[in-house]
Amino acid sequence: MSLLNEKVIVVTGAASGIGQGTALAMAREGAKLVLADVSVASGEQTLKQVEEAGAEAIFVQTDVTDALQVEQLMLAALDRFGRLDSAFNNAGIEGAMSPMDEIDIAEFDRTIAVNLRGVFLCMKYQAQAMIKNGGGSIVNNSSVMGLVGAPQIAAYSASKFGVVGLTKSAALDYAKKGIRINAICPGGVETPMVSEILQQQPGVLEEVLASVPAKRLASPEEIAQAVMWLCSDSSSFVTGAALPVDGAYTAQ
Ligand SMILES: NC(=O)c1ccc[n+]([C@@H]2O[C@H](COP(=O)([O-])OP(=O)(O)OC[C@H]3O[C@@H](n4cnc5c(N)ncnc54)[C@H](O)[C@@H]3O)[C@@H](O)[C@H]2O)c1
Repeated sequence: MSLLNEKVIVVTGAASGIGQGTALAMAREGAKLVLADVSVASGEQTLKQVEEAGAEAIFVQTDVTDALQVEQLMLAALDRFGRLDSAFNNAGIEGAMSPMDEIDIAEFDRTIAVNLRGVFLCMKYQAQAMIKNGGGSIVNNSSVMGLVGAPQIAAYSASKFGVVGLTKSAALDYAKKGIRINAICPGGVETPMVSEILQQQPGVLEEVLASVPAKRLASPEEIAQAVMWLCSDSSSFVTGAALPVDGAYTAQ
């Protein structure tokens, strides 16, 4: 039996990077997938890839900041597959990269809206569906920037600390109902989000790696392995955790 045998799983931000890599890995482990992203063209590419890997799947265009669209996403999952077992709330943006006082207020609000309100909305409608199921597992994508601070990244960091807070408190709300809620906290991962930052700021990779004990970035596949374990029944007593997947960055 495969790790995610027949589990119905929602993945947000599935059109790129960690979300895309995780959706593909989940397809290979037997999941039925409900893929969501704002980007239709790239989201449909991911859909094609997971179907080629043998998974039953749908793509639902979703802006995670929009409550109605998020509710519709969970209803689409129930409509297509009859239940919701698990979710990876991964959609996110990097936001402003500048000292805190220089952050544009609208950009701060946007970063919080996508990274924190988006996770809240997803969890709200997922929990409602999972209560009816009698349980489930939700995994939120925070960051090492949700565990420690860093310069030039205050809005992103605030949103990711918020995700850890949401995760821990919601885990307490639903522990007795069999819904497990955890966060992963990745360090630097080789994705378009990171490539963009590296292109804008030459030399920054060497600077970043100097503070990573493992001396490399992670691949999306390495993040996917942690997510899949948390979604699977193998982690049945793990809830309320914020798991660093960071090459020992936060161990220092
Ligand atoms: N790459 C890293 O080093 C790293 C490290 C730690 C945490 N993370 C987190 O991992 C997640 C994925 O990052 P990534 O590196 O794969 O980025 P990415 O930019 O490659 O992918 C993000 C995806 O989210 C989608 N998205 C953005 N706003 C959305 C919205 N409002 N509604 C729905 N979808 C939306 C984008 O269209 C894109 O497909 C993010 O939450 C990010 O903060 C990334």
